[in-house]
Amino acid sequence: MSKIRVLTVFGTRPEAIKMAPLVKEFEKHPDIFKSIVCVTAQHRQMLDQVLKLFDIKPDFDLNIMKPNQNLWMITAEVLVLMKDVIEESKPDIVLVHGDTTTSMAAALSAFYAKVPVGHVEAGLRTFDKYYPFPEEINRVFADAVCTYHFAPTETSVENLIKSAIPKDNIYKTGNTVIDALLHTVNNNKADLSYIGLNPNLKTILLTSHRRENFGEPIRNICKAVLELVEKNKDIQVVYPVHLNPNVQKPVKELLEGKERIHLIEPMEYAPFSTLMKESHLIMTDSGGVQEEAPSLGKPVLVLRSTTERPEAVEYGTVKLVGTDKDKIVSEVQNLLDNEDEYKKMSESINPYGDGLACQRIAEIIKKSFENK
Ligand code: UD1
Ligand code: UDP
Repeated sequence: MSKIRVLTVFGTRPEAIKMAPLVKEFEKHPDIFKSIVCVTAQHRQMLDQVLKLFDIKPDFDLNIMKPNQNLWMITAEVLVLMKDVIEESKPDIVLVHGDTTTSMAAALSAFYAKVPVGHVEAGLRTFDKYYPFPEEINRVFADAVCTYHFAPTETSVENLIKSAIPKDNIYKTGNTVIDALLHTVNNNKADLSYIGLNPNLKTILLTSHRRENFGEPIRNICKAVLELVEKNKDIQVVYPVHLNPNVQKPVKELLEGKERIHLIEPMEYAPFSTLMKESHLIMTDSGGVQEEAPSLGKPVLVLRSTTERPEAVEYGTVKLVGTDKDKIVSEVQNLLDNEDEYKKMSESINPYGDGLACQRIAEIIKKSFENK
């Protein structure tokens, strides 16, 4: 059998974290797979951090990121530039991940070239077109053009069936984020001393970057943090601030230089995982963090009104709190004051995977091409 040429495409930090262990899995079997990696570099610095950690040297780097880029620019550039990448690399299958604009445009480009596409982390849904924006439509779109759907959970399998995806094309694999997390937590010892945290205080980890939270919501989140730090002298907040200018500006205006609030650069994945583990609780609007924190036994308060990751909410380790300032303050305060509630939420559960998702995906691709 000739080698299966797999072109893996990603562009942002979360895609890179979740696709890196899969690229490594293909590299472990050079007799079966010819692994080709294309990064769009929709993110630059935040992508390069991950490439460095996992020692991945892309075969193609589209280098598209521009300061304050918009959705039209990303879509058009990825769609057009991927045409040449596909023509040059001649893949048997193209893999995209999740719900970013890179994934949607790369999937469409491969579809136009009539190359089968596999969607890793397929089937997440809120069934609300504008929430999250534009991710809900990006993933619906990617699912529509893909042939292979690698769904992380039973809920995502059901969502795909509801979306009229043929059952035979759906594979429940677990989420590759757990593969990445376990690999990183087990193989890296990170030094967090540069942050300057006080070991006697409880640490709250905060991340926020969603487009729907730009403007008033992100300002509310910052104001809630100011109130919490003022009320609770035994807490400190660490916020690795996303490089998007729509996040940087309000966050720095409201929180820079405030006592017991540490605004830091986006962290490399290894120290970030360590920080998650060492935090008392996590406030976030991130998708990936909602999947990782439950397996580390950390309560997560989600700064959004809905989530496409309902599994950990059902288990009780993740709670939706939205972006109303008073609601955020009362929910965090409750977790700080109420030991029983805290204990209930900090049970370690793992609805998103067992660390073997990449092996499963590689095996499914292998089997599928063996039969051709
Ligand atoms: C993107 C994804 C979002 C994902 C998020 C993960 C889309 C539409 N959005 O949103 O789904 O949750 O990534 O973080 O696909 N920037 C830098 N350096 C970097 C990264 C970003 O300077 O390494 C700045 C640039 O000014 C860039 C801006 O952030 O123009 C926005 O980046 P973009 O990828 O468009 O949006 P995100 O908010 O990062
Ligand atoms: N992350 C990281 N450094 C940080 C913040 C987050 O490595 O400073 C990781 C986090 O562990 C998760 C991923 O980045 O795996 C999530 O990325 P992000 O929140 O940007 O995107 P989302 O998951 O919301 O699409």
